[in-house]
Amino acid sequence: MSSAPPPEVAALAVEVPPKLAFDPKKHINHVPPKKIWTMTEIERGNQGVSPNAVSEPFSLFTEEAVKQMRAEILSKPVLENCTYQSNLSPCQLRGYAPKYAPFVYDAWHSPQVLEIVSKIAGIDLVPVMDFEIGHINISVHSKEAQEEAKRAIAEHKSRQADEGVSGCPWEDDTPIVGWHTDSYPFVCVLMLSDCSQMIGGETALRKGSGDIMKVRGPGVGNAVVLQGRYIEHQALKAYGGQERITMVTSFRPKSPLVQDDTILDTVRAVSNLPDLYRDYTEYRLELVEERVRAQLKKIRERKNRGHKFDTPGNKAFLREQKQFFESMLKALVDEDKVIPGYTDSSHLISPDLKERDEFFSKLYVATRNKK
Ligand SMILES: [Fe+2]
Repeated sequence: MSSAPPPEVAALAVEVPPKLAFDPKKHINHVPPKKIWTMTEIERGNQGVSPNAVSEPFSLFTEEAVKQMRAEILSKPVLENCTYQSNLSPCQLRGYAPKYAPFVYDAWHSPQVLEIVSKIAGIDLVPVMDFEIGHINISVHSKEAQEEAKRAIAEHKSRQADEGVSGCPWEDDTPIVGWHTDSYPFVCVLMLSDCSQMIGGETALRKGSGDIMKVRGPGVGNAVVLQGRYIEHQALKAYGGQERITMVTSFRPKSPLVQDDTILDTVRAVSNLPDLYRDYTEYRLELVEERVRAQLKKIRERKNRGHKFDTPGNKAFLREQKQFFESMLKALVDEDKVIPGYTDSSHLISPDLKERDEFFSKLYVATRNKK
């Protein structure tokens, strides 16, 4: 169930977004990332659908494209109908494309954009489903908070100069979105705010050993690609700017024959469930449709070549599909059992994070019930 936007977000509303068609020649400004970290480098070598874990920020869209995306996602109908709050993030916009945001929708379906994202991910990807184009996280800072941040930044800089430690990372690790793994195999996080005056805003990743690694946050029009389903991560708070808006678009492997470990644990509570469940069921059944066709082709080819029926191979195929349907039954939680705005800790991997998350989640529900 959507809710009203907080007043500071409502203040950003754009009355009527201009009409503009997405043109890859005009709106893509791609410069490849300097570095792509592998799953092995972050000690999660055997997990995931690709050897690539996370990229450094890279340029993806032009200023005009970002301006149009902002106008569409901050339009009144989006803020009024597509705002969600949760224990993971205070303000999110979801499920607005293509209805209210045709430019955003076309950008993420553009073959050129998909080629760029796939190359960085190390596997051919497609947007997971329309409902997930593109999840928006918004945080807006009050004037007082901005002033306080400016003072803190100035003090931090002078301390660095005093101590001769210039270049040390900013040490305030307050998250804007708490520790989580994503529901979908890959995400592309696009920055829609000018962060040139900000400090912080990195993505923190938890390596297999439990050590924390930070990846620099992207600047405006820039993006980061992350295999977020298999890596615990959190977006750290940025200080010093008026607002921080990111667009997180989720992807799955294009090939129906590659495993699809999609769950809905982190998105169910911040979704219009009939829309989410319809999109999810549709694409999952399409995958089964393609898999069955491929399996039938194999069976017929063997028959035509006079080969014996492959009983163990067929049983393995059937078992795999059984598991696939079971995961769907688990994902489609009855609508009356979903607590709006509350995501539990089942999406986490590490026991200590699970425990911490359960404590804060209970606190969130208790506070919410009191209101
Ligand atoms: Fe995430």
